Amino acid sequence: MLTGWFCIGFSKSVKKYQLKAVSPCGLKLLLYRAHNEAYVTAALCPHQGVDIAKSGGTVDANTGHIHCPAHNIAFDQQGRGCPHPIYQQHACRLRLLHYPTVEQHGMIFVYLNGNEPAEPEFSLPHIDLSHYLPLLTVYQTISAETAILARNSVDLAHFSAVHGYNDAVITENISVSDRVLSSAYSFKRPYLWNFGELNVSISVKLYGPSYNIVRTRLEELDVEFTILLMFTPIDAGSAIHAGIIVDRRTLTGKFIPKKILEFVVPHLVKMFFKRDIKCDYPIWCNQYGDANTQPLKGDGPFALFNNYVTSFVYEATSS
Ligand code: FES
Ligand SMILES: [Fe+2]
Repeated sequence: MLTGWFCIGFSKSVKKYQLKAVSPCGLKLLLYRAHNEAYVTAALCPHQGVDIAKSGGTVDANTGHIHCPAHNIAFDQQGRGCPHPIYQQHACRLRLLHYPTVEQHGMIFVYLNGNEPAEPEFSLPHIDLSHYLPLLTVYQTISAETAILARNSVDLAHFSAVHGYNDAVITENISVSDRVLSSAYSFKRPYLWNFGELNVSISVKLYGPSYNIVRTRLEELDVEFTILLMFTPIDAGSAIHAGIIVDRRTLTGKFIPKKILEFVVPHLVKMFFKRDIKCDYPIWCNQYGDANTQPLKGDGPFALFNNYVTSFVYEATSS
């Protein structure tokens, strides 16, 4: 099991006073929005173990409390049981586990470290979105391990073999500082059925294997965009949540009206992004972390990457 921040949905997927079941890392959790804030709790009611998310639990629009449908015990935003007509003050002894939750850049994240809620060991970066066009989203699930998806960003040779990019080189060696892994690459990307090539520079920052920021610059066009690429372990593999944001300052509108560019460019980026991960799919779904594999010189710094990922594997501390 991995530790860190995990994306459990887009902000738009949970409206005011809605709740839904989520299962990052195979846990049974409940995501809800009371008033404007998003919260994540255990899904199982501490009274008699009913799954509140799946059994018709509700959020009260006045108080923002969650109600378990089995005996109608309410829990406040700190997870404390509220006085009840039959159980009276005894219901106040109940505690619904609450997990650290952050909502930013149109996505909702929960911090996990094993089964129990834990103080986050690091915080997520804040990106000033005022210069970016509205977020476009992509959601997919895949039967592959999260660590294998994350390794994509340091797998130099796959850029040409899988994606057909040319002249891929490392422009900034992989480095790890605190809990952040950084690296950068450039390559040539064919377009228009191979009639032309674009010089592409990407810089990658990982805040754990589950949280990737990929900044991309198309050199000739001066266009910059960022893909907020989140991988979350789920029972059947991994969920991919991607947020695509284009820097509107880089759409100059020299040749094409800016309004048209602002509409077209994000959708083009989304289309190319979906096409890119479609190329990765057959590899991702059929790759196994076998101890007998033999890394080669030219692979990229896998050893450093593997150590980085290992530092996010949860280890139970024996008491
Ligand atoms: S099981 Fe939830 S109120 Fe009884
Ligand atoms: Fe890839």
